[in-house]
Amino acid sequence: MTGGLTVIKQIFPDKGEALLYFVFQNTISNDKNLKFLDSKLKGKVTEKIKALEFKGEEEQLVIFEGEKFYKYILLVGAGKASEFSTSKFKALLFSALSKFKDLKVKSVNLFYFSELGKDFFEIGKSIAISFCKAGYEFNKYKSKKKQVIKILNFQFLISNEFLISNFQLNQITEGINWGELLYEGVSLTRNLVNEPASHVHPEILEQEAFKIEKESKGKISVEVLDEDECRRLGMGAFLGVAQGSERKLKFIILKYQSETLRIGGQRSKSLKSICLIGKSITFDSGGLSLKPASAMEDMKIDMAGGATVLGVFKILALKKENINNNIYGILPACENMPSGKAIRPGDIVTALNGKTIEVLNTDAEGRLVLADALSYADKYLKTEVIIDVATLTGAAMAALGKDITASFSNNEQLHNAFLKTAKNAGEEVWAMPLFKKYLKDMKSDIADLKNISGSHYGGAITAALFLSEFVSKKNWLHLDVAGPVFDKMATGWGVISLVDFIINY
Ligand code: BES
Ligand code: MG
Ligand code: ZN
Repeated sequence: MTGGLTVIKQIFPDKGEALLYFVFQNTISNDKNLKFLDSKLKGKVTEKIKALEFKGEEEQLVIFEGEKFYKYILLVGAGKASEFSTSKFKALLFSALSKFKDLKVKSVNLFYFSELGKDFFEIGKSIAISFCKAGYEFNKYKSKKKQVIKILNFQFLISNEFLISNFQLNQITEGINWGELLYEGVSLTRNLVNEPASHVHPEILEQEAFKIEKESKGKISVEVLDEDECRRLGMGAFLGVAQGSERKLKFIILKYQSETLRIGGQRSKSLKSICLIGKSITFDSGGLSLKPASAMEDMKIDMAGGATVLGVFKILALKKENINNNIYGILPACENMPSGKAIRPGDIVTALNGKTIEVLNTDAEGRLVLADALSYADKYLKTEVIIDVATLTGAAMAALGKDITASFSNNEQLHNAFLKTAKNAGEEVWAMPLFKKYLKDMKSDIADLKNISGSHYGGAITAALFLSEFVSKKNWLHLDVAGPVFDKMATGWGVISLVDFIINY
């Protein structure tokens, strides 16, 4: 633990700055702690609960200020106890801490309650993630910095009635440590996505990868292919996207090697190799098929997939315990720009796997760079699993809204495993069909494929089907994250689910 967060066995203290208390639906009348608070506040709790019609429904908040007992008491509606989960806890805790942050609170107490269950590691992890998330700021471009007010201390208190062992206490602490480490990766991802494209371009992503290599102390190695090497390998699609830009492309490959293999041991049967590919268009102007101004405003985020992969590797670099899987990361990084050298609509490129593509719309560039990255992983890395993370289509948002990732896979078991992991992490994903029939909309008259569909509909599906033409095995999962990675600011969506996934797969 880096200070800030502590776990203490203690009875209800009678003083403090801020107290957070979770109230479950339909339990108000027989909640003995609430009764205790009510007596401390001389009936004000009952009064206010009535006046505000507070019933403990999810996200309902009631605050008491200026009391002697605690300066602030925040009651958080937690919904039905039977529907409570650690991911719900995480989300509610985050809203509560954000509220306290607005109130400039420095120190918060939360008591353990039985609805949290007994997975103490998970509880600690959730607390740390919410605490770090509430503390995240990106204000380096504000000349007048709002005085950064952070919650400095968070005490997780466990009263004696719960008979929690020292071992369990230790589990909480370990969960907290892990959650804090996870958030270092998430913060890196968020920072990289928040940075403007003038500051995060392919060379910067390369530098970040090398920083991670250094931090990993030998666990991670990084290799970067330049334009000539990409040409030699036949990455015509990636080169085609990059050719309009003044900035040099970078094909960045990271490799985390499991300890047993690092020290020359035998590869155990359970050890799998997993490859993560992150779309890394550091700015997507659309190219000659130029985007309208409003659609271009946020296009610095088009490297969010790559930033997600770097966030994951940051965590792998810092994690002390070995992971029994080999992990690869690939970032095909370049800008998509119009210029006299830019790829033209109608040009035909050949991808690394030999397939030819008629580029009818230069704004459908993500699938082009991914075609080569997927082919590279498929041909050279021979991994059991390939996952790509890409801000690929506006159509994914049209289908599912801003908050939900559209996922596609040619392997049901792999797909289900990821959906389960993401659900536990509280990151929303919805399984979409790789409906083969639509592939005909991607066939070109002059080449093997065209990079846009002949149909106006099902754009997230046709994009995924296009990608599926560049993997030869049933080992691939595609995450279209165009919506959830950004909500005025970067969210870091996916980092935690992917880390959970690669550790446990
Ligand atoms: N980077 C965009 C997709 C995107 C849009 C991500 C909005 C995040 C927010 C992608 O390269 C793109 O331009 N896709 C086109 C595809 C179309 C030309 C077939 C789209 O979705 O409009
Ligand atoms: Mg585009
Ligand atoms: Zn794009």
